[in-house]
Amino acid sequence: MTSTAPITTSDLTAGAPVHTPAGSGEWWRDAVIYQVYPRSFADGNGDGTGDLPGVTAKLDHLAQLGVDAVWLSPFYRSPQKDAGYDVADYRDIDPLFGTLADFDEMLAGAHERGLKVIVDLVPNHSSDQHAWFQEALAAAPGSAERERYMFRDGRGPAGDQAPNNWQSIFGGPAWTRLAPREDDGPLGPQWYLHLFDSTQPDLNWDNPEVRAEFEDVLRFWLDRGVDGFRVDVAHGMIKAAGLPDWDGQVAMVEGTVEEGATDPAAPEDGSTGAGNRGPMFDQEGVHDIYRAWHKVLAEYDGDRCLVAEAWVEPLSRLARYVRPDEMHQAFNFSFLTAPWDAATVRTVVNASLSTMEAVGAPTTWVLSNHDVVRHASRFGLDEIGGRQLNGIGATDPQPDAALGLRRARAATLLMLGLPGSAYLYQGEELGLPDHTALPDDVRQDPSFFRTNGTEPGRDGCRVPLPWVGGAPGNGFGPTGRTWLPQPDVYAELAADQQYGVKGSTYEMYRAALGLRRSENLGAGALAWVDSLADHPDVVALRVADVVVVANLGATPFTLPAGAQVLVASGELDEDSGELPSDTTVWLRA
Ligand code: GLC
Repeated sequence: MTSTAPITTSDLTAGAPVHTPAGSGEWWRDAVIYQVYPRSFADGNGDGTGDLPGVTAKLDHLAQLGVDAVWLSPFYRSPQKDAGYDVADYRDIDPLFGTLADFDEMLAGAHERGLKVIVDLVPNHSSDQHAWFQEALAAAPGSAERERYMFRDGRGPAGDQAPNNWQSIFGGPAWTRLAPREDDGPLGPQWYLHLFDSTQPDLNWDNPEVRAEFEDVLRFWLDRGVDGFRVDVAHGMIKAAGLPDWDGQVAMVEGTVEEGATDPAAPEDGSTGAGNRGPMFDQEGVHDIYRAWHKVLAEYDGDRCLVAEAWVEPLSRLARYVRPDEMHQAFNFSFLTAPWDAATVRTVVNASLSTMEAVGAPTTWVLSNHDVVRHASRFGLDEIGGRQLNGIGATDPQPDAALGLRRARAATLLMLGLPGSAYLYQGEELGLPDHTALPDDVRQDPSFFRTNGTEPGRDGCRVPLPWVGGAPGNGFGPTGRTWLPQPDVYAELAADQQYGVKGSTYEMYRAALGLRRSENLGAGALAWVDSLADHPDVVALRVADVVVVANLGATPFTLPAGAQVLVASGELDEDSGELPSDTTVWLRA
């Protein structure tokens, strides 16, 4: 049974462009950017943790896949309390990952292959092992050393209550009190703010010395030749004056569309979902920082870029980070959190494009990263409809792997047909699921510990990649060691099992990326297919000369006879001309 009356090939081309990308051709406007999570990408030295020589050795995988750029999560010196998002030295490489020479070699190797390189910048907080924090601990309250962080006296006559009621995003209070010292005053030891783990003290961005330091860090990496920065927690650096109490909830990833539009991520309780509007987030002052950074990058050639990781909502707030004199891109979490529903997907696509067009910026698209359950697992959990959640544990309902992969491939093929810039997370090109049954004793994410295990945390999406199916550690490194265990299914999903295999997820990504480049889809104008604009199950749009049809419903959809299939996310029955449930196809219109 089909869900609608048949349409014709001329129906597919009816519909005027409603979105035309802005801009003047900078590479990042339509780039596909591949996220490397260094500790889990490839291990060069056999210690079980990925490293920069491992990345260099696998650059051909990325070049052949057909991406334009690589973003590397942090590789800086760090005690690794939050997998490197706790930086102890912003100008050096952690020995776990190699040396500055290894970095230079990786960068040169990427550039030789035409790949741009974006590095991660973590400015909201440092590690407690950073020299500045150690100096602050040794210095007295009110000293210049303490002024680089957010130290405060406690409340109450003995100062033994936290300065305010803020909670850490990883669980528990956002304040930690220092150990007592002989020279403490009547209020006892001070407290310091950490929006994340207690080993990640927040820096004081009202202090000019902090601003100068980070501009210098930007120059350090720009001088080495990086093409841009992904800015961690870009909405967090400035806190509201007086640090007022706040009873709202903070969440790792938020995403909603414009006010008034259908909200794909609205909580079932009917509240607005505007969870990240507290006094610690999205303050006006952050924009001055990005205006200053924009000027620093503009001194360099080659269209260097800044991409914001800002969990703000709705999209109009996000667009403020990419105004012409600020950052260049921002992650679009509204797309990531959208449920598997045609009307919502259309709303999110429209809102994403038009909100960013209004400020002259490209939108981005992202389905997976190192903080969320991989989309091949997320889409296998029907009851959450593809929404973000903080890890899946062994005792939780387990995803339907086949459904998850089918929808993930369909979602990706839809995403790669959209204009703008797309982000891929390492391993999604292999269709990898999360490890959804990791034993507690191997977990490392601080959010697992800070919530006493009530949240499984993000380790499941951070499992080392399988390169050679069936080899020790599935070829992650020369010894077979892996810092987290891989699930059994990684053997059959390993890269070598998919290279050149018709119908494999890897070959689908490669075909789509090749066409995206040759058809210039990233810079194309988008038109909706008029006759399907309100279809309950089908998302159909035209970008440049390619028509993308995604069937998100439960019943097959009959494609027009004679339409030429360019790439499909699943098998098509050529005789019936039907697009099966949870499948996307690109057609030549
Ligand atoms: C960002 C990172 C996440 C990290 C957090 C604190 O959200 O993506 O992995 O834990 O910031 O730095």
